[in-house]
Formats: sequence, structure tokens, C-alpha cells
Amino acid sequence: TQPASLRHFLADDDLTPAEQAEILDLAADLKADPYGAKPLAGPVSVATIYDKPTLRTQSSFAAGIAELGGFPMQVDGKLAGIGVRESVPDVARVIGRQFGMIVWRTYEQAKIEELAAYAGVPVVNALTDDYHPCQLLADLLTLREHKGELAGLTAAFLGDAACNMGNSWALAGASAGINVRFGAPEGYFPDSDILDRAAKIAEQTGGSVKVDHDPAAVATGADVVITDTWVSMGKEDEAAAREAVFSPYAVTEDLLGLADPDAIVLHCLPAYRGKEIAAEVLDGPQSVVWDEAENRRHAQKAVLSWLYRQAQNVRP
Ligand code: NVA
Repeated sequence: TQPASLRHFLADDDLTPAEQAEILDLAADLKADPYGAKPLAGPVSVATIYDKPTLRTQSSFAAGIAELGGFPMQVDGKLAGIGVRESVPDVARVIGRQFGMIVWRTYEQAKIEELAAYAGVPVVNALTDDYHPCQLLADLLTLREHKGELAGLTAAFLGDAACNMGNSWALAGASAGINVRFGAPEGYFPDSDILDRAAKIAEQTGGSVKVDHDPAAVATGADVVITDTWVSMGKEDEAAAREAVFSPYAVTEDLLGLADPDAIVLHCLPAYRGKEIAAEVLDGPQSVVWDEAENRRHAQKAVLSWLYRQAQNVRP
């Protein structure tokens, strides 16, 4: 149905380390001149579909696609009845003929992989249960702005590392040559398939990925401290049990005090002050979460421009 060489961005390791670096460079250029480049002029229409709640993602994709000269259209996944009224492959074959690219936030990774297999145009993962790769490009762009060269930095990810953000930090962090350490309770690390993939990538880049149950050991000396909600979208029923098990991993001022004195703090948001992160930390001088949120737009503009250019090259 489509050339094997058509590129998508469904998981962080769909990009090689060199491609990730190229996209981060492009994102920095686009940030420096947000209205300059118009690679989607025409305009190229881009479908964005959200099956889970969204603030940053829907606004940054809409604004970013417009800045690139494209036309962002939010397709209502419920009205369309994706996988209910029509199968995912049928939806893919229809919308792939209307739009130049498709952006989807949904639950199962297998569904976005199915969409990509039939769409005939690039598909971008705007968060699934398994990965949040656009967020990671924004995180890495933010880290680069504050710390320069990414390779060799130490990142401490605390809390629920068994979610999309933990998985994406393992893969994208390893690609960037970062030493990624996860501090989480038993059962809440990225699964072994992800850790194996990340370890293979780290062998090429000089990064590393380690897991530890001791939050203090993980935070000590880190260049960047990262956390995420303890209750990811779709896990609301487990909220009470999760709060009990994750509380030692909260990013408090004391825990942050163990990191490098110039460490920055990242959080993909929404944040729950007093739960995974103390208000004093989120609102404090080391937090760069608003830069991080802005960088979603620049990073996504870069990945969309890059994928669109690749797709033009593979068209018959
Ligand atoms: N792990 C979180 C990320 C939110 C952007 C979730 O999936 O809800």
C-alpha cells in the first residue's frame, strides 16, 4: 500500500541518533525564526486526532502547522468512530488521501502502527500508552538550550517510569548519549524490551540506562531531574494505590538538593503540585517547564518538516 521507505514517527527509536540530532538542530533554527520557513505552504493539510485529553499537544500542533504554512485540521475521533464505525485500516486509507500527514494521540501503540501501515502518508505519534516521542524532542531541545551538548549528561527520572514518558526517556535519552537513571518502585520501570532496545542504542552513543529503587541515589549529581504524573491518562482508577507507592519518589526541594546545583527540572505537564513534584520545585528557579511546553511547538514543527521532506523524496 505504500513504499517501505515512507517514514513515520511512532516511537523515539524510529529516528537514528544522527536523525534525532538533525531534527533538534532544525527545531532550534525554527525557534529562532518561527515565521520564516514555510515547508508546508500550499497549504499541506495535516489531520490531528485526539482520543485522550490534550492542551499542549493540540495547541502546539495547530499553531506549529499554521506557522509552517500548512493547514491544521482537528478530526474528531469520536465522530469518526475510528476502529468502531470503521476499521483503523479503512480510516487510514480514507484520511491518507485527504491529508499530507496525520498526527494521532490514542491508547494502544498497535493502533497507530496499523494506521501508519495503511495511511500512505507520514504518521506522528502525539502520545500513546507506550510512547510520547514529540515530548522527548521538546525535552531534549530544552535540555540542550540550558546545558549545551547532550552526550554525557546525567538525567534522573523519578516516579512512574513504566509509562509513555519513562519509555520515551529510555529510548530518546539513550539516542542522545545521555546517562538515564530511573528511580521507581518495584514494577514501575520501563519493561525489559524497552530497556534492551535502549541499551543497544546506548552502546552506539556512549549513553547508558540504569534502574534503581533508591530515589536519593538516582537524583545525586544529576544534570536534569524529570518527573511525570503518577496517574497517567487511563489509569485514574489506580490513583490511590499509586500515590501510596510513589510518594518516596516525589521531587521535593530536599531531593533536588542532591542533584547538581545547576540542575534543571523538567515535567511534561500537567503537574500535580504536592504529589509527584513540590510546588516550590515546579515554581522554583531550577524549573524550566514553561520553556519545555513552548518547545513542543518548535520540536514538532521540525519533525513534521523533516518527515514531509522525506515523504516527497519517496513518492513515485
Ligand atoms: N504519562 C502522562 C503524560 C501526559 C502528557 C499520561 O500519559 O497521562
